[in-house]
Amino acid sequence: MSKEKFTGVKGMNDMLPQDAAIWHKVEETAIDVLERYGFQEIRTPILENTKVFTRGVGEVTDIVEKEMYSFVDSMNGDQLTLRPECTSAVVRAVNEHNLLYGTTQRLWYIGPMFRHERPQRGRYRQFYQLGAEALGMEGPDIDAEMIIMLSRLWKALGIDGVRLELNTLGALPERQAHREALIRYFEEHKSELDEDALRRLYTNPLRILDTKNPDMQDLVNNAPRLLDFLGEESRAFLARLEKLLEAAGIEYTINPRLVRGLDYYNHTVFEWITDRLGAQGTICGGGRYDPLIEMLGGRPAPGVGFAMGLERVIELMRECGNVPVSTMCDVYVLHHGGDTQITAMRAAEALRDAGVRVVVHPGSSSIKSQMKKADASGALFAVFATEDECAQGVLGIKALRSREGEEMPFAAQTPVKIEEAPAQLVEALRKVRGA
Ligand code: HAM
Repeated sequence: MSKEKFTGVKGMNDMLPQDAAIWHKVEETAIDVLERYGFQEIRTPILENTKVFTRGVGEVTDIVEKEMYSFVDSMNGDQLTLRPECTSAVVRAVNEHNLLYGTTQRLWYIGPMFRHERPQRGRYRQFYQLGAEALGMEGPDIDAEMIIMLSRLWKALGIDGVRLELNTLGALPERQAHREALIRYFEEHKSELDEDALRRLYTNPLRILDTKNPDMQDLVNNAPRLLDFLGEESRAFLARLEKLLEAAGIEYTINPRLVRGLDYYNHTVFEWITDRLGAQGTICGGGRYDPLIEMLGGRPAPGVGFAMGLERVIELMRECGNVPVSTMCDVYVLHHGGDTQITAMRAAEALRDAGVRVVVHPGSSSIKSQMKKADASGALFAVFATEDECAQGVLGIKALRSREGEEMPFAAQTPVKIEEAPAQLVEALRKVRGA
């Protein structure tokens, strides 16, 4: 019988154990930073009713038009979609559970999103987002605080060289006046528009500004600018945000062409971009979405948020040379089976009581082959519970790694009384980690 080989779905990746440490570092660091700003976790299902996204993200966006994994649930005919983003889902949940009744919410989430895009470096069909949404606050102080929080996170992750681009989309009437001016302008230059732009001319002319087509850059650069249509209030909003960012020492550039790919934004929009990841250099995007809560059936309330692509953040950390190594354990225990295995398992439990990560060699084999496994495990110390040692009431402790210019405790194998071994190992680990 020929063996069938199974593979994962195109554009959807496995996270393998050797990458666990860097994923954990990003997630733990981010959660720590988010919680310092009063954000709490929310988890929503991976599936939502399709309407949540068609209404939320917008009918004429790329995401809704061509990237959503939508299907009919054959059991009951429900029209469902694998979430392409989480802001709409969070707002749906906030409305459904009345979480904004007389209060505000600061929420964060982490999890897989799904978009049927053409896979390439940094662009996947399943990707992880870590995001945050601040609901019920008018800003711009909260917009500034979210950006300041992100800047703190990049520092904590050892990421440098990301730049912040900022823009404002103003308020709805301003956008409408700008939209009309854009349509008039592009109509006058219809012969210079590519197919994509022609398609968007009357549905989403703002997105034409986002074009990557080199032949259209001049046209787009000379198009009417939303900034020129802003009223007093919108200008004041942006000015205050800029002032707060400057006071916090955050550098940014205003990019009048930054429009974002989702329809729910007004006022502030921003992206953090790096040049080190090739074409997919936007590691984080967000903005204010005051219309969304009402659009999804809630009582009108403002909102602002962001989401970062974790695969991109992690790749950038690697580029910045900041990669924690994944190891299986701190201590590997070797033994000769029989009673020595019992001694080994007891010593391991005592170490685990002290919070140490321990692996006891499974089954029995020669000490030489156990040593190979101990080395491969990434452990810092080996513990020997051999027949000789156990007979003398001791365990042998030996450092498995050496560090240049530093003396490792237990550099040579040393016998330690069985009862004292756990405490001595904990102390040795503390020393090595502190170094
Ligand atoms: P977005 O710009 O569509 O915004 O996605 C946010 C981030 O997710 C991007 O900057 C990128 O890092 C990552 N990302 C997007 N698509 C992919 C992909 N196919 N593969 C890998 N990474 C990807 C949103 O999703 C909004 N919900 C953000 C937001 C929250 N706005 C307000 N609150």
